[in-house]
Amino acid sequence: MTLATQLLAWYYKNGRDLPWRRDKDAYKIWVSEIMLQQTRVEAVRDYYTRWLDRFPTPAALAQASEQEVLTYWQGLGYYSRARHLLAGVREVCAEYGGRVPDNPALIQRLPGVGEYTAGAIASIAYNQVAPAVDGNVLRIFSRLFCLEEDIAKTATKRAVERLVMQHISRQCPGDFNQALMDLGAMICIPRRPRCPLCPLADLCEAYRREVQDMLPVRAPK
Ligand code: ADE
Repeated sequence: MTLATQLLAWYYKNGRDLPWRRDKDAYKIWVSEIMLQQTRVEAVRDYYTRWLDRFPTPAALAQASEQEVLTYWQGLGYYSRARHLLAGVREVCAEYGGRVPDNPALIQRLPGVGEYTAGAIASIAYNQVAPAVDGNVLRIFSRLFCLEEDIAKTATKRAVERLVMQHISRQCPGDFNQALMDLGAMICIPRRPRCPLCPLADLCEAYRREVQDMLPVRAPK
C-alpha cells in the first residue's frame, strides 16, 4: 500500500468531524483557513458557523461594513485577518465575478493568503494537486524521511513540498492535506508522538530508528 492509501484509510475512519469539512465551497474553506491560521480548531467552530450565517457568500461579505465585519471577528484576535478577508472578497467580486479562483497562484495573490492557505483552499475546494505545508506537515515529513535540516529554513520547506508532491493523492489531494492536519493534531504530535497508533508507522524512518522524539530539528534563533 502507498503512503496516501494508508493515510486516507485512517483519515476516513478517524478524521475529525469539523463544520468546514461538510461543504467544499471555496469561500467557506477560505473563511475556515483564515480563522484557523492563528486560532485553535475548538475556538474557531462557533465563529465559523456564526460568520457564515451572516455572510454566506463573497457578495454578502463584500457589501458589509468593516465595522460590522469586525464584530463577527470579536474575540478571535489578529483582526487584520478579518480586514484582509473583507478586502479579499471585494477583490473576488470585482475581479472574478464573485467566484474564488481555482489556481493556487491566483488564490495566493489575495490579501492575507500565503502559500499554505492557497494550497489548502485549492486542494480542498477544487481538488487541485497542491501542497499545504505548515508546521504539522514539516514535523510529519521530517519524521517520515528522517530529515535533519532546520525546519525554519526555506530550503527545508521546499524539500518537504517536493516530498508532499511525490506522495499526495492524485484523486483526493484535499483529503490528503486535511489528513495530514489530523495526523499532526492527533498522532504525530510535537512531543511524545503516538507512533504505535500511526497509520504510517511502517513507513516512518524516524520510528524505525527510534529517533522520532529528536525530530524535527529546529535551530535556536
Ligand atoms: N488547520 C488549518 N486548516 C485546517 C483544517 N482544514 N482542518 C483542521 N485543522 C486545520
